[in-house]
Amino acid sequence: MANFLSNLFSHPSQSVLGIDIGSSSIKLVQLSKKNGHAVLDTYGELALGPYAGKGVGEATNLPVDKIIDAINDMLKEKEVNITSRICGVAIPFSSSLMSVIEMPLMQKTQLDQMIPIEARKYIPVPISEVTLDWYIIPKDKNPESEASPEAKTAIKTIEVLIVALHNDTISRYKEIVTKSALDANFFEIEIFSTMRSILDQEITPILIIDMGATSTKLYIVEKGILRSSHMINRGSQNITDELSKSLGISVTDAEYLKREKGLGGVIKGIETKSLINLTLSYVFSEANHVVLAYQKKYGKNVSKVVLVGGGSALKGVVDIAKESFQTEVVTGDPFGKVVAPAFLEKVLKDTGPEFAVAVGVALRRLQEME
Ligand SMILES: Nc1ncnc2c1ncn2[C@@H]1O[C@H](COP(=O)(O)OP(=O)(O)OP(=O)(O)O)[C@@H](O)[C@H]1O
Ligand SMILES: [Mg+2]
Repeated sequence: MANFLSNLFSHPSQSVLGIDIGSSSIKLVQLSKKNGHAVLDTYGELALGPYAGKGVGEATNLPVDKIIDAINDMLKEKEVNITSRICGVAIPFSSSLMSVIEMPLMQKTQLDQMIPIEARKYIPVPISEVTLDWYIIPKDKNPESEASPEAKTAIKTIEVLIVALHNDTISRYKEIVTKSALDANFFEIEIFSTMRSILDQEITPILIIDMGATSTKLYIVEKGILRSSHMINRGSQNITDELSKSLGISVTDAEYLKREKGLGGVIKGIETKSLINLTLSYVFSEANHVVLAYQKKYGKNVSKVVLVGGGSALKGVVDIAKESFQTEVVTGDPFGKVVAPAFLEKVLKDTGPEFAVAVGVALRRLQEME
């Protein structure tokens, strides 16, 4: 168990949980509402590696029963002291299919009929096997002022974000909550959870980079609306593997080295930076392609990059990202939206980015309690 605090506040009347089942660890955040503010009761993280015979920080692909064991272990953990079972659960972006499609401008009722038909083209499995949702992306009030020629010709069409979840995925998550005796009333794709905990009413496009263990997720958000999403099949685990392989050290030692020294280590005369950059430069160059494509399509620059996920805790990563993006780069501060004791300020800033999804889920459940 990595981070925890307990019993900091007198017992809240109604607390809620946000649960993020990542590939390397489960993150759990318990919030309650006091005087109209979201207050942090407790939070914790449980590494899943040991449930798969692997080390802490290592990615896993666990069967449902092991995940249930892990959640139950976490709910029992006295140090974390989770008291609520009322929750929401995040679903990984990798389990979803998402696309922004263009449709001719038409009546809402017509769209409701046409979108599922159109969506078939973008969903590689039979439509009967998925649960489909969509969202019409509002038009810019004044797109001509800054849009590219392509964007101008697109004005007579509308953009629709389609989101599909495989029914098997939904059943899997239902089984997890039922067997863990959790009271979940929603599953939410992690992107939307992160957006809730990270965004701050920014007007200009923002790129959120979630640096997980197995994969890196990229989301471009403009005026609070998801405009583009991508997944890169490289994550912080690749950095550990590279360090282990190149330096001839165990995965556990490599994981420790990565967390301890980040980009600033020198081992056997080799700078960790040179090895870590093999992964980072790939990830950031892919991210730059996404930014450029967005710029080309909509004529707008990404004005800020926000890093979240455990991989963003890597020492020195912000500087590398700044060089790569030539724009403002910050690490996300999801706990910034909740009230927490002052003495935790530093630890919450440091570990916060890893909890962006879990905080976002808990914030939604708290809103739904009103
Ligand atoms: N201080 C640190 N420095 C460098 N890397 C770190 C640090 N803390 C955690 N990590 C890395 O972050 C990764 C875990 O991040 P996170 O918890 O966001 O992933 P996850 O949600 O389990 O994975 P995914 O989102 O890919 O399913 C691990 O690879 C871990 O080694
Ligand atoms: Mg994750």
